[in-house]
Amino acid sequence: MTCLRTPRLTLRRWREDDIAPMAAINADPEVMRWIGDGSVRDRRQTAERIAAWEREWDERGVGLFAVECRGTGRLAGFAGLSVPAFLPEILPAVELGWRLGRPYWGRGLATEAARAVLDFALRDRGLARVVSVHAVGNTAAEAVARKLGMRRERETTHPAYGMPLCVHVLEARS
Ligand SMILES: CC(C)(COP(=O)(O)OP(=O)(O)OC[C@H]1O[C@@H](n2cnc3c(N)ncnc32)[C@H](O)[C@@H]1OP(=O)(O)O)[C@@H](O)C(=O)NCCC(=O)NCCS
Repeated sequence: MTCLRTPRLTLRRWREDDIAPMAAINADPEVMRWIGDGSVRDRRQTAERIAAWEREWDERGVGLFAVECRGTGRLAGFAGLSVPAFLPEILPAVELGWRLGRPYWGRGLATEAARAVLDFALRDRGLARVVSVHAVGNTAAEAVARKLGMRRERETTHPAYGMPLCVHVLEARS
């Protein structure tokens, strides 16, 4: 089973008991402010997403990891890989994404998790190119992409919601 460890975090596949803490993260308007149309998700929607992420792992061998704090065993959020199907103009592509609950912000945890995922993507899965897409104005997400060494490639518009988006790219050194 795919599992990554960093000094402070364990990145692992999803379990049934992750639904409640992930639903609490998805119910926070501050967390969801820059995601899609900014609407929060309830427990049923969260459970459906987790089931879909697990199917991605089974079918593609990549997906979103549950991010757990090693010190407490608590779920902090997710980080991982997905196909940005909502943005056809950049396909084919694999997106590196992250979402943490508010108590976990501001400690470098998103960058720590995302670095481990990037290493997994490039070395373990042999991907040559990884993108990161975030809403223009999501300064924290942009800072994480920059700290990962990603290059700002373009700005575009969300096809469904109309807000400006920024695409960052990292290409593996050949
Ligand atoms: C984006 C997110 C994962 C960042 O988590 P984090 O653990 O705080 O990130 P890190 O601490 O690793 O790095 C955040 C960086 O952004 C900076 N930052 C955070 N909020 C900021 C703000 N409002 N304005 C400017 N910079 C900000 C921090 O200073 C830090 O940079 P630094 O290390 O150079 O000081 C977290 O804010 C989150 O989950 N947000 C909601 C979900 C989301 O928007 N996900 C991305 C969707 S594309």
